[in-house]
Amino acid sequence: MTTTHRGFGAGRSTAYRTPADIAPVTRALRAAGRKVALVPTMGALHEGHRELIRHARCAPGATVIAVSIFVNPLQFGAGEDLDRYPRSFEADLEMCREEGVELVFAPGAPDMYPAGADTTIVPGRLGEELEGAARPGHFTGVLTVVAKLFHIVAPDVAFFGEKDYQQLILIKRMARDLDFPVHVVGVPTIREPDGLALSSRNSYLSPSERPRAATLCRALAAGAAVSARGPQVVLEAARAVLAGEPALQVEYLELRDPDLGPAPREGRARLLVAARMGPTRLIDNVLVQM
Ligand code: PAF
Repeated sequence: MTTTHRGFGAGRSTAYRTPADIAPVTRALRAAGRKVALVPTMGALHEGHRELIRHARCAPGATVIAVSIFVNPLQFGAGEDLDRYPRSFEADLEMCREEGVELVFAPGAPDMYPAGADTTIVPGRLGEELEGAARPGHFTGVLTVVAKLFHIVAPDVAFFGEKDYQQLILIKRMARDLDFPVHVVGVPTIREPDGLALSSRNSYLSPSERPRAATLCRALAAGAAVSARGPQVVLEAARAVLAGEPALQVEYLELRDPDLGPAPREGRARLLVAARMGPTRLIDNVLVQM
């Protein structure tokens, strides 16, 4: 990995390891009138990440794209998959090059959390619901690393997938509540042909589990299809599909408003699901118009 700044374009992505390496680069770019778009990732890049990068490319202004690649230990609980989380740095760099990403920020854990680092971001009540109830401390870890990335890279705009919808809402809220001068943009979920939402964790699914995992998306689609009949019918329709797949252990199926407050009786809502398929935890969500 190079830590020297070699210029932009020509399919060249320059990778930086430490905050001290990249921070002056993005600041100099902004001072020269360029806009910086950040795509935060944990690596193992797939077509969903490619879509985030392509949205960043379309951001207005003379935009330089920075992709961060960091498997953030702070957002994994005890017994979760930190150690086996897929890592594919060379392939990730290749995708960044293909997509014309100018800057890659790939710190190690000690670069992000030097000894003694102890300050974290508290996500508020929503951080303890849905995913937060299943994964205590998860959103503290997510918001802390995203806040650090915002400070280090100083982006004008940052892109996150709607696949992790609660994460997206909490990051938007953090940027608003803590006055980060960054525009947070959500990008629609990319799906496999059978509807399974792309996720780095799909690689954990066995060949027999993989087709069954698409039940999650089919359940959400079944709920959305009867949205004109109101919240109860939406939930019942989705529940019936989930119940037809015994290999799925459903953790929650909830209808909420678009900001993840209580479900409205009509108008826009979000239908969210989390389930386990064997050892793999899957989440998905869709927009529902009631
Ligand atoms: O969505 C992810 O990949 C991660 O949660 C994020 C936002 C990069 C923070 O580590």
